[in-house]
Amino acid sequence: MQIGFLGAGKMAEAILSAMVNAEMVQPWEVTACDKSEARRNLLASTYEVVVTDDPLLTVKESKVLVLAVKPQDLDALLDQVAPALKTTHLVISIAAGKTLKVLRLHLGPKPRLVRVMPNLALMAGEGMSVYCPDGKIKASDAALVERIFGAAGAAIRLEEKHFDAVTALSGSGPAYVAFFLKAMIDAGIALGLPKEEARLMGEQTLIGTGIYLQQSGRDLDEFIQAVCSPKGTTEAGMKVLNKSTLPKTIAKTLEATAKRSAELA
Ligand SMILES: NC(=O)c1ccc[n+]([C@@H]2O[C@H](COP(=O)([O-])OP(=O)(O)OC[C@H]3O[C@@H](n4cnc5c(N)ncnc54)[C@H](OP(=O)(O)O)[C@@H]3O)[C@@H](O)[C@H]2O)c1
Repeated sequence: MQIGFLGAGKMAEAILSAMVNAEMVQPWEVTACDKSEARRNLLASTYEVVVTDDPLLTVKESKVLVLAVKPQDLDALLDQVAPALKTTHLVISIAAGKTLKVLRLHLGPKPRLVRVMPNLALMAGEGMSVYCPDGKIKASDAALVERIFGAAGAAIRLEEKHFDAVTALSGSGPAYVAFFLKAMIDAGIALGLPKEEARLMGEQTLIGTGIYLQQSGRDLDEFIQAVCSPKGTTEAGMKVLNKSTLPKTIAKTLEATAKRSAELA
C-alpha cells in the first residue's frame, strides 16, 4: 500500500509504527512529509521510510494520505495539495474538530474521504479511534481504515454527529484518566508510599482493571459491588466516593470538552 503522511509528528509516527509492527507496509511504500528536518531525520532513521518536505511529492507517491498536521496548519496544506488529488486517493484526516464538510470544501470532489478521531494511547498501540466516512467511501476503504487504526488499538465507526462526544470521551480522555491517576498516586504518597512504587501501583491498577473489565464484559456496578465486601476496606472508600460530586464533575468536564470541540468545528 502506498501511504503518505502529511505531517509526521507524534500521531503520524504512532500510526506508522503500528503499521510497521503489524507488517502492513514496507518502508519504501511510506512517504512521510514534514516541515521539520528533525522529524524527517528521525522517521528516516527509525523506520527507513521515504521522507520529504514536499506535500505534492507525497500526494504523487501515495494512494492513501493521512492528514496529520495540527488543525491550524491544515487549511493551507489542503489548499496546496487539493489540485493534485485524484479519485484514486483515499484521504484520512485525524485533525481534531475538522468536519467532513470543511475537509471536502478544501479537498474538492475527487478523493474519497474519512475523518478519524484517534487518541494519544495510539502511541502505546492501545489507542481508541473512531472513524466516519464521507458518503462516497467504498466498503474496502472502511475496512482499510479499520485495519490501519486497529493495528494501534481499537477502531469503530460512528456517525459524525457523535464526534464532539467522541472527542470528549476518548479523544481528550487520556488527559482526564491521567488526572485521576495522578490524584490516586498523590493520595498513595500522602499515605507514606514511596513515589516510584506509588506510580507503578497506580498505573498497573488502571491498566489491569481496564483490561479485565474489557475482557470480562462485566457490568460495572456489579463489579464495584463485588469488590466491596461488607464492612471491608473498599466499601469504606466507596462510601466516600458515592457521597462525592465526582460523577457530576466528570460529566461537566466532558460537556465542556464537547462544547469546545463544537466551537472549533
Ligand atoms: N495529540 C493528540 O492527542 C491527538 C488526538 C487526536 C487527534 N489529534 C490530531 O492529530 C493531528 C496531529 O497531531 P500531533 O500531536 O501528531 O501534532 P505534531 O506532533 O505537532 O505533528 C504535526 C507535524 O506536522 C508538521 N507540519 C505542519 N505543517 C506542515 C506542512 N504544511 N507540511 C508538512 N508538515 C507540516 C509540524 O511541523 P512543525 O512542528 O515544524 O510545525 C509537525 O512536525 C492534529 O490534527 C491533532 O488534532 C491529536
